[in-house]
Amino acid sequence: MSTTAEFTKRRITPQVLRSKKERGERISVITAYDYPMALVVERAGIDAILVGDSLGMVVLGYETTLPVTMEEMLHHSKAVSRAAKVAHLIGDMPFMSYQSSPSDAVRNAGRFLQEGGMDAVKLEGGREVISKIKAIEAAGIPVMGHLGLTPQSIRKFGGYKTQGKSASAALRLVEDAHRLEDAGCYALVLEAVPDRVAGLIAGRLQIPVIGIGAGAECDGQVLVVHDMLGMFDRFVPKFVKKYADLQSVITKSVRDYIQDVLLGRFPGQEHSYAIDDDEYTALLEHFRPSSQGRALKPIKPLHARISRSAKANN
Ligand code: KIV
Repeated sequence: MSTTAEFTKRRITPQVLRSKKERGERISVITAYDYPMALVVERAGIDAILVGDSLGMVVLGYETTLPVTMEEMLHHSKAVSRAAKVAHLIGDMPFMSYQSSPSDAVRNAGRFLQEGGMDAVKLEGGREVISKIKAIEAAGIPVMGHLGLTPQSIRKFGGYKTQGKSASAALRLVEDAHRLEDAGCYALVLEAVPDRVAGLIAGRLQIPVIGIGAGAECDGQVLVVHDMLGMFDRFVPKFVKKYADLQSVITKSVRDYIQDVLLGRFPGQEHSYAIDDDEYTALLEHFRPSSQGRALKPIKPLHARISRSAKANN
């Protein structure tokens, strides 16, 4: 089956995503934070790439997403946008880049488009961020909402906990989802929300609802690429499906490389550059005792040096 990206070869827009929802076609989203990964996921046919602030944990090694800065987000957004020419690109607004005021929110959202090459921004929160969403949207910048487990509020939640499990909490989520849609969001991420609650929200909204730990009834899914490829094991949420174990593949490859270096099996002839025989003979002339040139001491090949020092050590 061909993907939207292969079919259109034109940038996937919020309108394309919306019409996918209308046609009942599921939307695939994945995170990427650098040029090579963005190239690979785009070539695989992904609809949208989120440069998530999860990069703080899976790439930069922070404990949470809270320390991530605008400069770090822009640095990675630029790398992704250099690679991906068809996928819809979403820049994740980091903690404190939008919470303080609508004007901060607009300025920082603008930087994602102007400097980072993104097509849209995502921010976390419900009714408390409506004024910021409206201001960003009014500036002509598409905004994706994010409800449920919003990791920037980890200190308030007291941990990474499923949200919307009681009827009242779920109702608040449904209300917030409607408010975000009314404020102008073109799509919504629901994270760690019971599947039936997410399905209810996806069914009630016109905009695409993208789930992560929110069940199969969402209009699309998003995963953190390092989680699904098995490249980050410090914390793996229940909702992650591991499609590969790249950590094992990389560990084995590096161990093989170390062995090859230690045993002199790498580099082989096929990895080496050659010098013409005549040139090399001319070079060696310089090391002949009778030569007029500087009588440099010839360098012994490595294997000869190793065996001599091995003998000396015995
Ligand atoms: O930062 C991120 O990667 C995200 C996704 C988990 C939705 O916000």
